[in-house]
Order: sequence, then structure tokens, then C-alpha cells
Amino acid sequence: MAEPMPAKRDVQNHLLFECAWEVANKVGGIYTVIKTKVPVTVAEYGDRYTLIGPLIYKTAPLEVEALEPEDPALAASLEQMRAQGVKSLYGRWLIEGAPRVLLFDTGSAFHRLDEWKGDLWNIAGIPSPPNDTETNDAILFGYLVACFLGEYVSRQVDTAVVTHFHEWQAGVAIPICRKRQIDVTTVFTTHATLLGRYLCAGNVDFYNNLQYFDVDHEAGKRGIYHRYCIERASAHCTDVFTTVSHITAYEAEYLLKRKPDGILPNGLNVVKFQAMHEFQNLHATAKAKIHEFVRGHFYGHYDFDLDNTIYMFIAGRYEYRNKGVDMFIESLARLNYLLKKSGSKMTVVAFIIMPAATNSYTIEALKGQAVMKQLQDTVSEIQKRIGARLFDHAARFNGYFELAPSDLISTEDQVLMKRRIFALKRSSLPPVVTHNMVDDGNDPILNQIRQVKLFNTPEDRVKIVFHPDFLNANHPILGLDYEEFVRGCHLGVFPSYYEPWGYTPAECTVMGVPSITTNLSGFGCFMQDMIESPEDEGCYIVDRRLLSVEESVSQLANYLFAFCSKTRRQRINQRNRVERLSPLLDWKNLGVEYSKARQLALRRAYPDAFVNSNGESEEEEDYFSAGPERYHPTSVPASPRLRITGLATPGDMGTLTEEMQRLNTSDYRGFGFPKSAEDEDEGYPFPLV
Ligand code: UDP
Ligand code: G6P
Ligand code: GLC
Repeated sequence: MAEPMPAKRDVQNHLLFECAWEVANKVGGIYTVIKTKVPVTVAEYGDRYTLIGPLIYKTAPLEVEALEPEDPALAASLEQMRAQGVKSLYGRWLIEGAPRVLLFDTGSAFHRLDEWKGDLWNIAGIPSPPNDTETNDAILFGYLVACFLGEYVSRQVDTAVVTHFHEWQAGVAIPICRKRQIDVTTVFTTHATLLGRYLCAGNVDFYNNLQYFDVDHEAGKRGIYHRYCIERASAHCTDVFTTVSHITAYEAEYLLKRKPDGILPNGLNVVKFQAMHEFQNLHATAKAKIHEFVRGHFYGHYDFDLDNTIYMFIAGRYEYRNKGVDMFIESLARLNYLLKKSGSKMTVVAFIIMPAATNSYTIEALKGQAVMKQLQDTVSEIQKRIGARLFDHAARFNGYFELAPSDLISTEDQVLMKRRIFALKRSSLPPVVTHNMVDDGNDPILNQIRQVKLFNTPEDRVKIVFHPDFLNANHPILGLDYEEFVRGCHLGVFPSYYEPWGYTPAECTVMGVPSITTNLSGFGCFMQDMIESPEDEGCYIVDRRLLSVEESVSQLANYLFAFCSKTRRQRINQRNRVERLSPLLDWKNLGVEYSKARQLALRRAYPDAFVNSNGESEEEEDYFSAGPERYHPTSVPASPRLRITGLATPGDMGTLTEEMQRLNTSDYRGFGFPKSAEDEDEGYPFPLV
């Protein structure tokens, strides 16, 4: 805990600096947290809010509009740093809410890296090997942020400053602030633990053994001891330590050795459409674009009915086991079998959207789109000529109207059509991957597809398209933005093994797309906690906690098969039900947890400011219940049966109170983890169908 500071700073109108490596720099889900939360934070703080991130020259000009700082203390602090060669960019981040943003060029301080590494060792005992660029960046960034904060609070002495840091890459500043006694209060949010991510990616029975890992040894074995030290120091030196879900809190307690003060569930910026069913129309138009891709990709083998085709997908950073791609592919193989056996008329196209190292698109994938485009162009031309002939014939009407097909389509056009149709012949099967993989032979996804033999044969009812890159509307193949793609699909499938939150299913929910997740993902547990029967609302949760691997795969395959058996009407209804869950995930409701974390940080750093008129220290609960408007209960959708009723806000499940510190591990929400290693789960690989 920080030494209590004299309450000379104004805590009521405190300033907020929020710092993350993914500020104005998209990598994964943390970017989504920060960006989507901006509107509610700006609504609360206005210009008292500034985000701090790294200055990446390639993307910054697209993300940020430069401004002269109005705050004299900020301007002087940056000037002082500039005089020492530190380059920075201050301006507005061009996203909804247009917040102030301050980006530091870590490269401009590179010459001080060794000095700072030495300092980090001296003050915190944190080692740093020479060639880990990510750690070097984290150290440079941490020192620059700490220097800035030190400069700033020495000039701006009237107002309290809350600093909120996300993830270990931004955490280095925390022990430095503590050591240098910089007069700020700190919140640290971890979105995973390094060790958790690494252990799960390997073949470890993580959840049954969490309590028994020798953390230093495990981190050392994986070459991440120094990173682990940074993460652990951040968690221990911060005034308030939080994470994004109960499952990660449980993990953090054992792996980082500090129990989080509370949970900050991730929200989204939910957009309400004027017309209730606008999102259904968006589904139909986006689906038409996916159809276009599918016709091209499966040319020559496009013998299935798009009206009876279901689009499923998995997406995210390429973490084969953590994101549950292994379980997805195995379940698809079983679904293929079930669909064939039942004589279903449905076809499933399953997309895997996960960036990997590639050498651009395959010729086959490009050719598919090209031949389909040619066919379409030819049909349009011929259509025009048919129209002209029809018009001419009708205009010369002389009493009777008779027209043979051969009068409409000329012999040349028939030949042209035949040429285009012959171009659709292919001797190979439609490819399962759209790009040339750098390491095709060792790619885990491709290897599993080979193992289960999902090769897009005409007999297969389940087809696979692995797109090893994030989506972008400017790409020549599957040229849609991710959001549009999600809207056009029918079902998102995210059977994660390690997933502190998992934005992908949450995004599906607010777009009205049903999804499958697991009870090992923060989001899955959150929904299970909030809703009585998530399945009925189109939010399926596979049990990967108490079931064996085989049973979980089987449950997933059954969910997929049941989904394929739904009628169009049932799918439309389910989309409506899913979309009605959006308020549960809206920052307008969840942002309050962040406010509570900041208030707790202020109380810990400036306890004297929280003394009531009788000179007694205010109870934390009193403080919260007496809080402003935003703490009031929020409206919830009428239809889903929610578990949380009465005066609670959705975020109250993760209420931040000192009380939580006193609770036992067993009090984490939704936990029923085996207490002994005897209950171990079955290992991998999956048994084949
Ligand atoms: N995403 C994206 N483009 C894609 C696929 C995914 O921008 O083609 C985004 C997605 O919208 C989500 C993020 O990547 O916000 C992944 O976040 P998540 O929390 O699911 O996983 P993380 O990568 O942080 O582990
Ligand atoms: C939306 C559209 C409907 C369309 C339907 C297709 O609801 O508003 O016009 O028929 O999507 O649903 P499907 O699940 O078959 O893609
Ligand atoms: C991390 C986690 C992911 C989470 C995201 C945002 O990257 O892997 O599960 O959704 O952070 O909190």
C-alpha cells in the first residue's frame, strides 16, 4: 500500500491518465477495451482525461490529430522531456469521444535503455536480458511514463492524479512511481497472466494444478522470468489491483500472489439502431457479400444451396490451444459426420480467421474470385444484349408477340457463356486455406484439418476456409471489415481453454449473432452469472471445466448440429433474443466498475480526503451508495431472465470493496475447481471420430 499522502490535492476533480501499449495501437482485445470505453470515460472526465500510449510512426498519423497542449503543466513537462531528446505526440485520438492522447516514442530514449535496465534491477530486482525487444520497449515506455508523471505532478500540485495501467507492457511505471514516491495513485488491470497464457498453450492441465505451480521455476523454464517479474511487481506495487474476470482473478491470486481488489468486466460501446430490426437487415446484406466470396472460392464445386448454408467462424490471435481451435476443428469433423448421417440438406462453411505468417494469397484463391467475377461480368453484358433485343422486338410490335429463346441469345453469346462455364472446371478441390503459409507443414491448424480429413470434397457437408489474416474491406479476398463479416455469419464459435475475457463472443452478442463460448472464458462465466439460461438466449456455453475433453467436444458438436437443425424463422428469433442482451455488455452499465476502482485508489492514497463532517472515516460502501447518478440501477432487457435483480447494476457482480480481500478463493464467482490434482482431466489429443 502507498504511504497515505497528506490530503492537499483536490480528489473530487481529480485527473485521469490511462496508460496501455495498445492505446492508438491495435494488437488484440486490450485495444478494444480502451477504445470502446472512451465515450463513457470522456462523459465522466471531459478534458481531465488523457490516454498514454507508444508512438508508432506507421499508424499514429492515421489515429491521432496533433494539438498544442492547453494545460501549462502538461506543456512544460513535455517541453522538459523534449529538451532531453524525448519525442512525443500530443493530440486527439480520432475515435468516438475524441479523447486527449499522449504518445511517447520509445526509440527516442533508446540510448538510456542500459541505464534504466540497471535502475530497474537496483530498485526492484527485475532482470532484463539483452535481446527481448518487447521487454526493452516495456522498460523504455515505463520509464518515459514515470518521468512524465514525475514532471507533471511536480508542476500541477492542486489536483489528485489517478493513473490506470493496463497489462505488464505498461506496468513498469508502477514500481518506479512507488519507488520515487511520485504523488499519483495507481490502478493496475491485468488482462491475463503471462504464465497462465504460456502454461495453457503447452500441454498442461492448468486449472487443476493452479495452486501447485512453482511460479519462478515455470517462468524461468519458458524464458519469461523477467517479464513475469515486471507483471508481478506491477501487481504488488499498485494501489488497486484488478483484472477482467473472476477466473483470471483466481489465476492471478496463485500465479501473481496478490488477490485482486476486484473485477472490471469488459464492455462495448453498444449502438442502438433507430429501427428495431435494422441489425437483421445488416445481417442479410453482409451475408450476401460472404455468399459472393463463397461462390468464387468453391468454383467448380459450388453445388450446394446458399439458402441452406450456415456460416460459422472462429477469430482472434493465433493461439491454437488457448482459443480452442483444436476443439472447433474436431467438432466440425463430428458435425460433418452427423449432417451426412442425418441426410441434412444443410451445408456449413466454417471460417477460421487467425493471423499467421504467410507469403500472400494462393493463386487458387485469387483465381476463384477472378473466374467468378468474369462470369458475372459476362452475364451482365449478355443480359444487356438480351434486353436490347427484347426491346427492339417489342418496339417493332406488329400485332402478335412471339419470341424464341434463340432470338434473344446469339450464338456468339452462347459460345462466350460456354467458355466462362468451362473456366469453372477445376481438377483440384477448393483449398482449405486462402494464403501460402510460411510453414505449411508444421502449421497446427492445417495439420489438424489434414488429420480429420476436412478437405472440402463434394460429399462433405462441412467446408473449411482458413483465412490466416485479420479481415479488411480492402483485401481482394473476403473483402469485408471484421464487423461486417461477423454480422453476415450465423454463429461465432469460441471454445477457448484460456480466455480471461474474450471479446469475440461479446461482439457477436451486441451484433445479434449467436455464439458459443466456454465456462473457462471470462465472458462465458459472466453470462452464466448474469442470465438464468444463456442457451435459450443464443449464448451457448460449453463446459470445459467439469466435463472431460471428449465430453466437451461432444457437447460442442451437438450444439453445432442442433443449430444446423433450426429453421430460418428460429434463427431470426434467436438473433433477436441475443441482441436484447446488449445492455448487459454496454459500457454505460459496466463503466461504473472502473469508477469504483478509481475511487478506491483515491481512498487508499488520500484517506484524509474521505473523512465525513464528524471527523470519521467514511465507509467505502457509504461512499459508493452516495455516489453520483451513474451508480443507479440500469434498465435491463425485458425478455431474458436475469439472475441479478433489484438495485444491482450488472457490474455489481464484481463489486470492488475491501471486503473482497478478506474472502476466500472459493468465493470467486462460478468456481467449482477441484481442490486436488487427483481430479485431473483427460489429456490431448482428441480421439478421432
Ligand atoms: N478482431 C479484429 N479483426 C479480425 C478478428 C478479430 O479486429 O479479423 C478483433 C476482435 O474484434 C476483438 C479482438 O480482435 O476485439 C480480439 O479480442 P479478444 O478479447 O477476443 O482476444 P485477445 O486477442 O485479446 O486474446
Ligand atoms: C434477416 C433478414 C431477412 C432474412 C434473414 C435470413 O432477418 O431481415 O430478410 O430472410 O435475415 O436469415 P438467415 O438466418 O437465413 O441468414
Ligand atoms: C486479453 C485476453 C482476452 C481479453 C482481452 C481484453 O488479451 O486474452 O481474453 O478479452 O485481453 O481484456
